[in-house]
Amino acid sequence: MSALDAAVREPGSPLAAPPHAREVLARCRALVRPALRETVGRTHPWVAEMAGYSFGWCAVGGAPATGSDGKGLRQALAVLGAEAVGAPARAGVPAAVAVELVHAFSLLHDDVMDGDPVRRGRATVWKAYGTGAAVLTGDALFALAVETLARQPLPAGAEAVRTLSGALGDLVRGQADDLLFTDRPWTGPERVPPQDYRTMAEGKTGALLGCAAALGAVLGGAPAATAAALDRAGRHLGIAFQVVDDVLGLWGDPSVTGKPVHGDLREGKKTFPVLAALGSPVPAARRLAALLERGGDPGEAAALVEAAGGRAAARAETGRQVAAAEAALAATPLAAGAVRELRALVDFAVRRDL
Ligand code: IPE
Ligand code: MG
Ligand code: MG
Repeated sequence: MSALDAAVREPGSPLAAPPHAREVLARCRALVRPALRETVGRTHPWVAEMAGYSFGWCAVGGAPATGSDGKGLRQALAVLGAEAVGAPARAGVPAAVAVELVHAFSLLHDDVMDGDPVRRGRATVWKAYGTGAAVLTGDALFALAVETLARQPLPAGAEAVRTLSGALGDLVRGQADDLLFTDRPWTGPERVPPQDYRTMAEGKTGALLGCAAALGAVLGGAPAATAAALDRAGRHLGIAFQVVDDVLGLWGDPSVTGKPVHGDLREGKKTFPVLAALGSPVPAARRLAALLERGGDPGEAAALVEAAGGRAAARAETGRQVAAAEAALAATPLAAGAVRELRALVDFAVRRDL
C-alpha cells in the first residue's frame, strides 16, 4: 500500500471521507442496544414495558413496535468518548447504557413537569399509563443507570458514579431554573437575561451530553483532564442543542419534531429566540413584549420573534457554542478518527433545522 493509500484509509487522516453522523449513530446503537435491553429487562415487568414504550420498542400493552427511539446521541457520545481516548468501543458501552437510561428517566419526569402529552409523535408515558406509573418508571431507570456504573471495576467505576452524580446535580439545577423561569416576566428588571438562559440550558441539557462523552473516557481509562475536556465539549453542544430545540418548538414541523408547535410559548418557557428578540431595539420587539404580556396568539408571537431577529440570534448562538465545543476537542490530545466522528455528531445535532 502506498503512503497516500495508507493515509486515505487511516480513519484519523484528513484525507479520509468525512464520517456520516447517521452511520456513527447506527453503529453505536447496534453496539449498545443489546446491553440496554438486557438492563431494562432486569426491572419489574410492568415497569420494563413502560420503559420499553418510552424507548419506542413496544406499544402500550407490550406488543413490539418499530417506532422511533430517538437519535441515540448520548450513547454515541459515550462510545466515542471511549474511542477518543484510545479504548475499544465496547469499553464505552456501560457508559452509553447509563446515559441513555438517565436520558429516558429525565424525559419521563420532564413530561410530567411540563405537562406535555406528546413526545416523538406518541402519547407520553404519563398520558398513556398515568403519572404515578411514569414517575416510578423514571425512578427505575435512574436506579438501573447507577447500578450499571457501580458494577464497573474500580477505580474507574467509582469515578464514573462520581461523574454521573455531578451531572445529575447540574441537571436538577437546570430543571429548577427552567421551571422557575416560567413565572418570571418577559420584560423589566426581573426578566431572564440570556446568560441565565445559558446556565439553565447547560444544566438541563448540556450536563448529560458532557457526562456521556466524559463517562466513555473515564471507563476507557482516561486521565481526569481528558474527561473534563470531553465534558466541556458536550456542555457547549448541549447549549447549542437546546437553542435548536427552542427554534424547533417555535417554527418546527410537528410531523418531524414529534412535538406540538408553540408548546414552550403556551407554557411560558423562557426560550433563547424569544429572549434574544425581546432584547433587540426594533419595533417588532416592543410589539412582541406587549403580545406576550397579554398572552396573545402564539403564531403571531413566533412571527414577531423572527421579525425582531430572534431566529437569527439563535443561529449565531448555536454557531458560537459549536465553535466552543470544537475548541475544547481541539485543545486535548484525542484519537483523530473519534474526534472526526464527534464533530460529525455535533454538526448533525445542531443542523436539525437551522
Ligand atoms: C428537557 O428539556 C431537559 C430534561 C429532560 C432534563 P425540555 O423540557 O426543554 O425538552 P423537551 O422539549 O421536553 O424535549
Ligand atoms: Mg419538556
Ligand atoms: Mg422541561
